[in-house]
Amino acid sequence: MLNEKMEAALNKQINAELYSSYVYLAMAAHFHGLNLEGFANWMRIQAQEENMHAMKIFDFIYERGGNVRLMALEAPPNEWDSPLDAFQQSYEHERKISGMIDELVNLALDIKDHATWNFLQWFVAEQVEEEDNANRVVENLKLIGDNSAGLFMLDRELAQRQPEAEAGEDGGGE
Ligand SMILES: [Fe+2]
Ligand SMILES: [Fe+2]
Repeated sequence: MLNEKMEAALNKQINAELYSSYVYLAMAAHFHGLNLEGFANWMRIQAQEENMHAMKIFDFIYERGGNVRLMALEAPPNEWDSPLDAFQQSYEHERKISGMIDELVNLALDIKDHATWNFLQWFVAEQVEEEDNANRVVENLKLIGDNSAGLFMLDRELAQRQPEAEAGEDGGGE
């Protein structure tokens, strides 16, 4: 059974993951508008992944006999000054999400909820990857600076990103 406080916190995290998806979708739209289709592809796939994160928590709440309560989504920003600005904001956003996951882990420890603690470890590892992915593009964009040939090449590279394979039948561990 899910503790009430944990249920509320997990529901809040569903909202945060869906908001992340919304932010990345807004960034995808922004990049489509700039004809940077590779950047847009990267953002669309990221938006799908965030949606999967939300669904992972959704499924877990039900598995533990809790209830999902969906909340209003905040409108995402729609404008960024440059590709670097968008990716820097992505990176900062992921750091914020990592902090939220850490808080959930702290709560699980406080109330000795080992099942949720164990469930959250997937997210702890995922956030390491998410921060690294965003930061790597930030660093590339810093190197590129105002060089449009470099931007074009990075766009081609980001076009290669593929959606992650669906999780196995246990629903975790991709
Ligand atoms: Fe996420
Ligand atoms: Fe994320």
